[in-house]
Amino acid sequence: MSASPDFRERSRTVWDVMAPGWEAGRHDLWEASHAVSEWLVEGVAPRPGQTILDVAAGLGETGLLAARHVGETGRILITDFAPGMVAAARRRAAELGITNVEFRELDAERMLLETGRFDAVVCRWGYMLMMDPGTALAETYRVMRPGGRLAFSVFGAPERNPWASLVGRILVAEQHMPPPAPAAPGIFGLSDPKRLHGLVVEAGFVAPEVQDVPFTWSFPSVDRYWWMLLEMAGAISPILRGLRSEAQAKVRSQLEEMARPFAAGEGYAFPALCLNVATRKPA
Ligand SMILES: C[S@@+](CC[C@H](N)C(=O)[O-])C[C@H]1O[C@@H](n2cnc3c(N)ncnc32)[C@H](O)[C@@H]1O
Repeated sequence: MSASPDFRERSRTVWDVMAPGWEAGRHDLWEASHAVSEWLVEGVAPRPGQTILDVAAGLGETGLLAARHVGETGRILITDFAPGMVAAARRRAAELGITNVEFRELDAERMLLETGRFDAVVCRWGYMLMMDPGTALAETYRVMRPGGRLAFSVFGAPERNPWASLVGRILVAEQHMPPPAPAAPGIFGLSDPKRLHGLVVEAGFVAPEVQDVPFTWSFPSVDRYWWMLLEMAGAISPILRGLRSEAQAKVRSQLEEMARPFAAGEGYAFPALCLNVATRKPA
């Protein structure tokens, strides 16, 4: 399957619009999910002097974490196809005073990067969103040196991620969107471990380790959860934003009803589950 330019362009625009939300929500998201990135960085075991690529990096949190391990002689390349995300990642690195990083706008499905350049690649919550994750994984393989390590994360099954699946169910039931095909790009696009395993091996990597990594995504208020869906949830936000105000209010009230089991204080504490994958390119 070749990536549709229309899909790619629409997705890039949506994620660019989401960039300010990701920057504003960065602290809370990191508090909730840093264990996912720590697993990924441990998975590639970065060493001083190495060159590491962060794919679909958003604000570059995972790459910036890896930057601490490669030292002054190492390099991290933080990439994303949305210019707003790359600009926000630059600001974050400057804020942290991290200097061994470079930044580039880059589409993961056609990386304009040299073959064999990277010792390791990390990607948190990126491949599942792509039209053709197999091509992105093959591109990842190409730019890695033999023996290089890859660690990436995708979201697990919808029922283990109610923070995203509840609103999706409501939007489908209200016919605001069609039911997503199981392998369609989106938050749950790679939630089937068998497909995930198959894609990794087809791209040439060794049989991967796939591990469940749970976390709790807490919101101090109902408003804050709704804000996240509108400002950060790339797959959901355009649909919610496109609804007339009465339809939006109806979705919100149904969501509040369905999210009751996860109520905590004035807001929510939702379980979330990632599938973290570690593999390597054969030497
Ligand atoms: C869910 S966010 C994750 C951001 C970051 N990796 C993190 O974990 O915080 C997904 C990111 O993937 C990027 N993305 C989606 N498709 C992409 C593609 N084909 N090439 C490069 N980046 C892509 C989006 O721009 C967005 O920044």
